[in-house]
Amino acid sequence: MGLLQINNLHVNFPTKAGVVRASDGVSLEIKQGESLALVGESGCGKTIVALSIMRLLPEDARISGEIRFEGKNLLSLGKEEIREIRGREIAMIFEQPATCLNPVFTVGDQISEAVRVHNNCSRKESKERAIELMEMVGIPSPQKRCGQYPHEFSGGMQQRVMIAIALALSPSLLIADEPTTSLDVTIQAQIMELLKDLIAKFKTSLFLITHNLGVAAEMCDNVAVMYAGEIVERGRLSEVFEYPRHPYTKALLGAISNDGLRPIKGSVPELTRLPNGCRFHPRCPQAENVCRKVRPEMRFKVRCHLWD
Ligand SMILES: Nc1ncnc2c1ncn2[C@@H]1O[C@H](COP(=O)(O)OP(=O)(O)O)[C@@H](O)[C@H]1O
Ligand code: SF4
Ligand SMILES: [Mg+2]
Repeated sequence: MGLLQINNLHVNFPTKAGVVRASDGVSLEIKQGESLALVGESGCGKTIVALSIMRLLPEDARISGEIRFEGKNLLSLGKEEIREIRGREIAMIFEQPATCLNPVFTVGDQISEAVRVHNNCSRKESKERAIELMEMVGIPSPQKRCGQYPHEFSGGMQQRVMIAIALALSPSLLIADEPTTSLDVTIQAQIMELLKDLIAKFKTSLFLITHNLGVAAEMCDNVAVMYAGEIVERGRLSEVFEYPRHPYTKALLGAISNDGLRPIKGSVPELTRLPNGCRFHPRCPQAENVCRKVRPEMRFKVRCHLWD
């Protein structure tokens, strides 16, 4: 059975400029012990999908569809029930670790707080556990560093702290939203490597959000490619990496080169003014007449008229 199953998720924001369709019928599945990468350029709606799972969407969001986690529909749970699941069963790390840490508490206090929130353990026990966790995420001299404040840590070390907090209660699902995008290139690989090791050790399923298909391929079993609020291709990562079918997936792959990212021509449309037909048609090198008029359906894991 799927650990997480998202069915037909719609998230809209009514704005002065029109309705922002951030998630427009997204369906995804993560099986127990498997990992899924959600890949796409900035502005495609990836973070909105993650925040929907965590029930952390802004107040003005209008949401419909179903998000089943271990069978329960997260969208119909009360605040208390969702708080129980958040942290203990599903944890999330974000792009900017600094904004998630409280500047006025020590790092050690923040990790032990995460341990204590759901576990009935003493201060001493939770502090010991915090030090263990710091060691596990590769923070040197944890005994000393647990008494320091977030600003005394580099970005990479702060993200290690966030990982320690996220894994404090061994959740069954970890959502990592662009966890290394704000870090130096040399640090990025180290953090990804650490995540990979810990996921295996904790037997946690990973939902990784990234704009880089290369990073996704190193970390995950499965992939969903998202463009302008829709999933346009799904599959085993090894297969999609080798035989991409959707022109957008091909473009994302083409964008990875040894010297960094070569951007795709054009830009993601405004989600208030989506193009008719296929949303990718203004940028697609293979667009035909039908693409400008008819919105393609998802068929055999790809949403493109070329594969009808
Ligand atoms: N509170 C909000 N009100 C209106 N639009 C929003 C709000 N939050 C996000 N959006 C819009 O939703 C779209 C998807 O955003 P996001 O999920 O952050 O994309 P990604 O993570 O793929 O970069 C963006 O166009 C963004 O501007
Ligand atoms: S449906 Fe047409 S425009 Fe859209 S990706 Fe396929 S070929 Fe390109
Ligand atoms: Mg995002």
